[in-house]
Amino acid sequence: MSRIYTSVDEIDFKLSNLPAMPAPDRVLMVKPTYFDVEYVINPHMKGQIGDVDKIQAQNEWERLMDGFQELSLDVQVIEGEKGLPDMVFCANQSLPYVDKAGNKKIVMGLMRTPQRKPEVEAIEKWFRKQDYEILHLDTERTQYFEGMGDALWHFKRQLLWGGFGFRSSITALEQVSDSLDVPVLALELTEEAFYHLDTCMCILNESTVLIYPDAFTEEGLKLIHKLFDNVIVATRYEAEKLLAVNATCPDGKNVFIQQGCTDVNKNLRDAGFAVHEFSTYEFLKSGGSVFCMKLLFW
Ligand code: ARG
Repeated sequence: MSRIYTSVDEIDFKLSNLPAMPAPDRVLMVKPTYFDVEYVINPHMKGQIGDVDKIQAQNEWERLMDGFQELSLDVQVIEGEKGLPDMVFCANQSLPYVDKAGNKKIVMGLMRTPQRKPEVEAIEKWFRKQDYEILHLDTERTQYFEGMGDALWHFKRQLLWGGFGFRSSITALEQVSDSLDVPVLALELTEEAFYHLDTCMCILNESTVLIYPDAFTEEGLKLIHKLFDNVIVATRYEAEKLLAVNATCPDGKNVFIQQGCTDVNKNLRDAGFAVHEFSTYEFLKSGGSVFCMKLLFW
């Protein structure tokens, strides 16, 4: 039975009673060799076709990889594939999971756009050689699911936050809940510029989240405020132009974020986080930044 929640009245659990989950200690990155903007599938890509500076992109990607290494994460790198310019955004093709007994599973995605569909097989190929059980969604029931673009683990809890509306369908979130046996808080996304949940919600630690509120419905915002004591809000400019919310905080203390998010960074520091700025300008042209340029797993 899926446990999916779309409104606060339905919440029948306490966060502190949900089983714990370790913070991921490994990170997958895909080399940006074939990264480019070759088509437009989100508003950020408009007017950017062919405009990526490849050398700059490579430099930005390497700095980010160094950053993850400095956080003592085990960084695994795989080659990109020719003809798959968005494969570098390797948060999108799958959702890794570890259960209470330490068994590792990974739910493979179903990309919304034909251009990105072959990326799933490329990522799956790598995970087949790891100690992961590979799960596929039933395509009769689900049309779209873009992995960790739209499915975020609550910090150190077996609780999933799901986004639906643009790239993932609510039926996908139901199936994920079923197959991993975890509750899912489902948030409808309302603005095309914030087409993935990871563009408008960044879970920082067990009680703190960074969001861009206008991307959610009122009911969704109520759910977020119900589960998080501290809700840090990004301004429109930083959220839309700098993808400030597409940040990542793997250890609950250090936040990696696009350079120049002045307002958000002040709020993060005031809340006690260590902020590390990275330039991801070339990847912003494609609608992605720090969070989706990597996949955290165990
Ligand atoms: N061009 C890619 C797309 O539109 C960017 C994906 C970025 N990922 C993200 N989770 N925001 O699919």
